[in-house]
This record gives sequence, structure tokens and C-alpha cells, in this order.
Amino acid sequence: MTESSSDNLSNLLHETRTFPPSGEFAAQANVTEADFAQAEQDRLGFWDTQARRLKWRTPWTETLEWAPPFAKWFVGGTLNVAENCLDRHVEAGLGDRVAINWVGEPEDDTRTITYAQLLDEVKRAANALTSLGVQAGDRVAIYLPMLPETVVAMLACARLGAAHSVIFGGFSAQAIHDRVTDADARVVITSDGGYRRGAPSGLKVNVDEAIAKGGTAIEHVVVVKRTNQDVEWDDTRDVWWHDIVGGASNEHQAQAFDAEQPLYILYTSGTTGKPKGILHTSGGYLTQVSYTHWAAFDLKAETDVYWCAADVGWVTGHSYIVYGPLSNASTIVMYEGTPDTPHRGRWWEIVQEYGVTILYAAPTAIRTFMKWGEDIPNGYDLSSLRVLGSVGEPINPEAWIWYRRVIGADRTPVVDTWWQTETGAIMISPMPGVAAAKPGSALRTIPGISAEVVDNDGTPVGNGEGGLLVLTEPWPAMLRGIWGDPDRYQETYWSRFQEQGYYFAGDGAKKDEDGDLWLLGRVDDVMNISGHRISTTEVESALVSHPLVAEAAVVGASDPTTGQGIVAFVILRGENVEGADTVAALRNHVAKEIGPIAKPRQIMIVQELPKTRSGKIMRRLLRDVAENREMGDVTTLTDDSVMNLIAAKMPTAASED
Ligand code: WT7
Repeated sequence: MTESSSDNLSNLLHETRTFPPSGEFAAQANVTEADFAQAEQDRLGFWDTQARRLKWRTPWTETLEWAPPFAKWFVGGTLNVAENCLDRHVEAGLGDRVAINWVGEPEDDTRTITYAQLLDEVKRAANALTSLGVQAGDRVAIYLPMLPETVVAMLACARLGAAHSVIFGGFSAQAIHDRVTDADARVVITSDGGYRRGAPSGLKVNVDEAIAKGGTAIEHVVVVKRTNQDVEWDDTRDVWWHDIVGGASNEHQAQAFDAEQPLYILYTSGTTGKPKGILHTSGGYLTQVSYTHWAAFDLKAETDVYWCAADVGWVTGHSYIVYGPLSNASTIVMYEGTPDTPHRGRWWEIVQEYGVTILYAAPTAIRTFMKWGEDIPNGYDLSSLRVLGSVGEPINPEAWIWYRRVIGADRTPVVDTWWQTETGAIMISPMPGVAAAKPGSALRTIPGISAEVVDNDGTPVGNGEGGLLVLTEPWPAMLRGIWGDPDRYQETYWSRFQEQGYYFAGDGAKKDEDGDLWLLGRVDDVMNISGHRISTTEVESALVSHPLVAEAAVVGASDPTTGQGIVAFVILRGENVEGADTVAALRNHVAKEIGPIAKPRQIMIVQELPKTRSGKIMRRLLRDVAENREMGDVTTLTDDSVMNLIAAKMPTAASED
């Protein structure tokens, strides 16, 4: 476990406050204690019941087929995911219900889209994609900002049984290239650009650059017009969304697909430089996202206005902007921009204007709002809020308390939800009407899910002890594999506790005296930057791909706002000398290779890196330096003067922003 985790641990040990739901809230809650007992008694029966939330064309014959580590859920069942998110609601008379309240970053740029309108648009888009040759089983890449068209594109793929691979709009041409080649996508859907902090920035230009690198299977680029900026155009390949979708028929019959039909691939960081294409399928995934969205947020679809402030390019956006909420016929808010554009009250203005009742956000955002001061949210009417959620990284008790007090008027339950790209859906979270929440604790597994905290041998730890988080039983929304790499799937998640058959999540956790769970962050070489997973090796590979760099070591250092910040230690080649220019050039290079989110907070040019006699870089020591801590044990270093030299440099190493 990292030093920052143990700091975390000692802080958490002092946290004793609890916040039970009000009697009023508990009385109207969707989930009760009885649900836990029922799921405990008959786990598969519980998920059978939840799967009936959906519309199936053919019923399943077996709930789970488990050939570890490969699972099939709802075997033999068929359904159409888009039909479950749209057609069935319209058929049930909910066509006029608002599906998406879309808020653009420029003020007064809004769209309101009903379920009937969304269905109409998805049918057109499905026909348009069909006309480009997209078929069931294909992969379609989506590189778009937070637009209604992004949701339409995802659902159109789902409707056709084609898997989408959404690529976060902050990723670079290189990252797009890696992902579209790995997934073998033939179509990319993008836009001319998007708004970011008040200025239009280009997106299609990155797709063009990715394709120009060669080796992709891309035949068509569909372009949504968003910013009206100039774009390069290749008539043999590029088509405007408004031409092809606008001109398509709105008649489309959704076909039924197997419960295990691939729904999407989403790339995430692992401990090696190569991103993993996490594969999710249809029936089990939709069952769990639908159930958890209803359960963890106590959703009342008729009256709630639900806002998940994540980006649709991450799994949170997939599961809790699109598939969970829309399968539940709920009304969502979708916001295109950053929280400070054009002013720092933008989120609270949106909550007030749309009467948002449920808000789901990341701790990094909450800490940013804390920094800006409570006067800003206090200037708005936030009384519509009734449930607050947190996701993406450990939420420190101070931020949790602030969230509840300032945003939730000391009245709303706060649910700290733990899950991962791989789990597909929420796994550990308080149920807002049941739990006496503890600030900073995700508490216990949701009904139907089994987790444990174990030591290195896989033995469960006792209350009051810490260890590694494992999932002990398969779950409906679990990843079905890593795209094209079954060996890596086995190795990454199932080899560590092979004997016990546990899924290893890569997170440290602690059980408190009551047996409640506290998530402590990653124990592997994966950093968590503003809730986004980035591996140290990914950034190191980007750095050493620069001609000036000989060697690089990257660590995640704790950061008051972003959770962790990237600190890089770099050895330059030969005669190259350091300077502000070099540092700036390297930071920009990383942004170009991976995307701006991976830009190191700090780059230190050093002469040597601390290594063990076997040549392994001792990141633990670098982390000490990066966090300005007294250095740990240096006795295994080949040359312990190295660390003194590095540490002596630290205060002068300035970051640019
Ligand atoms: C990693 C997964 C879950 C969707 C967004 C991130 C960390 C996530 C929590 C939480 C403590 C959390 C873990 C996990 N994490 N939620 N509530 N408390 N840590 O998805 O990029 O796949 O990252 O985020 O370290 O393993 P992801």
C-alpha cells in the first residue's frame, strides 16, 4: 500500500460521525433492509427479479453460466438495449416526458428532448449508420463532446447490435489511433469541435490526424456540426451528421440480440502502457445499471430530475448518464461545459433552473467548489436536491461533510459509490434510505454483490484491519473480458487470488469496527487524477518517446484538489540541458501523446533515478520526495546519495500551472 493510503487510513480512523436518513426519507425509500436479506438468501434469484425490470424478447433459461473467469448472464435471453431505453417508454405513454435537458456551455444554448423525440432521432441515426454499412457485431468509435448526439449515437449503435467505443474528447490523436485500431472500428462519429472554457476547440482535426497515421480500418467519419469552425474535408470518407441522420427515415424496427451481445468497449488504464479495452455486454449490464440507478439514488422517475456531472467518455457517463437513467425512463440533465464557465456558480445555476433533485459528482469537483467558497452555492436555491452521490476516488470526510452541509442543506443523504470501469455498475454504496452513512465510507456491498477485504494470502481480514478489496462472486454487469486479449483478462484480474476465484480490484480497503468498508485507493501503479485512471507506465512511455528523454519515472503524489497529481522524474539524453523550455516541451508532449489530463503537474530533471540492485525503480522513494515527506528506507538502493540529490532539487522544481 502506498504512503498516501496509510495517511488516508489514519485520518479515516478518527471519523466517527454517522448520518442516518430522516424517518421521512426512509419511509419512502425504494430499498429497505429486507432487500439485503432476500438477496443474501438467494443471490441469483435476486438478480432474476431485477432482470425483469427490463423488456425481454425471449426469456432466459439460466441466470448465470460461470466458467471462471468467464461469465454469461441470463443465458438464452434476448433483448434490445435501445428499445429498453426508449421504445418501451414511448409505448407506455411516456413519449412526452423529457429525457434530456441539455445545457450547452455558452449561456442560453439549451435543448429539451422528450423520449418520443429521442427515439425518433435514434431511429434515424440507426438507419444512417446502416446506410454506411454498420452491422450487428461491428465496432463504431465515438469521439464527441457532451452533446445529445453523443447519446443518440450510442443508442443507435446499441439498437443495431454494434458495439460502440466512446473515446473521451480530451484524448489526443495518438490515443484515438490506438483505440480505433485495437477495436478495428470502421466508422468514427465526431464533431467539428466542442466548447471548453468558453472557446471552441477542434475534435475532427484529431480524428483526421489519427487516421493519417495509417493502419486504421476507418471508412467513414460522421461529423456533427457543433462549433461551426472550419474543418478539413475528405469527400470520399467524411459525411455530415445532419445530412445523413437528418435525411434518414424515422422508421426502424429494433432487432432482438442475445443477452451477451457486446454493447460497448471502453478503454481504461492498467499497469502497463497499453490501455485495456473493457468489454461490456447487454442483458446483465443493463440489469445492474438499471437496478443500481434506481436503488442507490432512490430514483422516482416521474418526479426526479437527475444530473450526473461526469463526462460521457468515462464509464460513469455510460452507466449513469445513458443506460441506467434512460432504461429507468428518468429525466436527466446533461451539461456540456466546465464548472467555471462563464462563472463559478454555473452548476448551482443549473440545479436551480432545472430543479435538479439528484446530483452525482466526483470528489475532485466537490473539493474545487470547497476551494471557491460556499458563498457561491449559497447564492442559489438548491432546495430541490434530495440525494447526492459521489464517485471516482476516495472522498475525504471534510469534502463529504461540506457536500452534505453546503449543497445538501444538511438534509440530503450522500451516497459514496464505489465501482470501476470493469465492474460496469455500482458495487459498494450506502442505500440512502437504509444506511447510517459515515463520511468517507462506501459502507457495504449493495444487495446481490459480494466483496471481501483480504490479506496477501487471500484470507479475510478482521474488523479494524486493512487489506486488498476483492469481489468474491460474479455480478451481472461485470466485464466479459479485455477486447482481443483473454490472457491479459485472466492475468490482470483473476491470477492474484486464483485459488479462491476472487476478482482483484487493485484497490486497498479497510473494514472498520462495524465491518463497514473504507476504500483507500489504488495499490498498483495506477494513478487517480481527478477521478481518471492513468497508469504510471503510460506517462513514462510518452515521456521516453520524446527525443530529449533518456529515462523517466512517474509517480502519483497526493494533491488537495485532484486527488493525485502526476510528478515525473526525467533523465535527459547526453548533452541536453534542462530549462523551463524543456519542461514545457515535455509536458506538452505528454498532452499530445495521451491528452491534457495526463500532463504532469511537475517535471523534475534529474541525473539518476533511485534503483534497487536488480534495477527496479523505487517509486516509493520518489513519492516521498514528491509529497515532501521524510524519505523512507533507502537501504536497498544501489547508491543512496541519488535520493539526496533528487530531494535537494525538489523545492526549485516549479510546475507551470
Ligand atoms: C477506480 C476505478 C467508478 C467510475 C469512475 C472511475 C476509484 C471509484 C471510488 C469510491 C474510492 C473509488 C478506485 C477504483 N474509485 N469510486 N467511491 N471510493 N475509490 O472508474 O476509471 O475505472 O476507476 O476509481 O480506485 O478502482 P475507473
